[in-house]
Amino acid sequence: MSGVVVVGTQWGDEGKGKITDFLAAKADMIVRFQGGNNAGHTIKFDGKKFALHLIPSGIFRKDAKNILANGMVINPKAFFEELSMLQEQGVTDFQLFVSDRAHIILPYHIALDQMLESMKEQSKKVGTTNKGIGPCYTDKAMRIGIRVIDFINEERFFQKLKQNVEYHNKVLTAFNFQTFDAVEIFDEYKSYAKKMAPYVANTSKMINDAFHANKDVLFEGAQGALLCLDHGTYPYVTSSSPTASSVPLNTGISPQKITDIVGVTKAYSTRVGSGFFATNFDDEVANTIRVKGNEFGTTTGRPRRIGWLDLVILKHTVNISGLTGLSVMLLDVLSGLNELKICTSYTLDGKEIDEVPASIEDYERCTPNYETLPGFKEDITNVTSFEQLPREAKNYLKRIEELLGIPIVIFSVGPDRTQTIVLKEMM
Ligand code: IMP
Repeated sequence: MSGVVVVGTQWGDEGKGKITDFLAAKADMIVRFQGGNNAGHTIKFDGKKFALHLIPSGIFRKDAKNILANGMVINPKAFFEELSMLQEQGVTDFQLFVSDRAHIILPYHIALDQMLESMKEQSKKVGTTNKGIGPCYTDKAMRIGIRVIDFINEERFFQKLKQNVEYHNKVLTAFNFQTFDAVEIFDEYKSYAKKMAPYVANTSKMINDAFHANKDVLFEGAQGALLCLDHGTYPYVTSSSPTASSVPLNTGISPQKITDIVGVTKAYSTRVGSGFFATNFDDEVANTIRVKGNEFGTTTGRPRRIGWLDLVILKHTVNISGLTGLSVMLLDVLSGLNELKICTSYTLDGKEIDEVPASIEDYERCTPNYETLPGFKEDITNVTSFEQLPREAKNYLKRIEELLGIPIVIFSVGPDRTQTIVLKEMM
């Protein structure tokens, strides 16, 4: 039995998809535990390309159970669009389950997301994905949300929808935004509800049963630790917790069932959307990293901001997620650089600190302090073991381990599966 959690340690886009796909090949069950279709990763194999936003990576394996757990917010329209995309490309034999306790994203959540962002001055915008994630979690916390179990019951769905539309229309009207008609939404969404019903299950019981039957379960995180609602760079965060600590609550299992927690990090840092980024730099070296690492948003094509590896952030993630190992991605992108920098502390108002300040205003005044290591020149894309790495690359990884106090369990030297070097087997 194993319960392996894969989470992002930075601001998302760390390459979790590759590691999740890799581990999913061994798991009996793959569970997405938070967020919704704000996430996304691309999977390529057999000359085909799949963009997944909601559906776990195990969907390509007919013998694995794939679960959308209670901590998720699910847009039914996006769910069926993703299923159609898979089916059109021949992925028809799979096992998929949706938690009866997950919450449903409806059109007014998306409008509220846009409304809230548009009301903020430019520098205060979160830069959300506009998928209605925040407003749906808000409804959940206000205890007016529509859960999957109510969504698939026509009578209860309509009654709750009517009340919610009435409430949200008042807010939308107050700020001169487009309002909604409950009957219109109901007429469209009742067909999604009917189609979703066969997938609905008590997924907490399913996961616990799997553990009792000695199965291997993979928990697939979306986004990254710094986007955590509680421990991230608030308010520039998402509305759920992408940490391993949130897995038990968001899936209905005991924390004791988790056997390994893998934090995925790039060998450097990137950030999309708004928000402070201490190790951000923008020069020729940043440009080289951006082009070599293909650091452009998958949906929008926007260039990602580039920064050196920030150990203050990684230490924070080790604490809040209880990482037992690190997976370092895109190490090959750093080859050819004269020097590699690691941020080991910040200076805030003349004082050295080794933690992420709680207040974003304080954080914005932090400057990074670096340790500089020699870079490596060799192409490492064909490396198949730690021993084969150039001395400088080994030293870079060893220094990261030393500073963090956890082992590197995987490192990656290219996009292909074969370019993934596993230093510790977890399943
Ligand atoms: P929301 O999750 O759409 O509410 O967006 C909140 C913040 O999280 C924004 O800065 C988004 O850019 C960021 N975000 C949400 N999902 C992802 C992701 O999968 N990768 C990277 N950033 C994300």
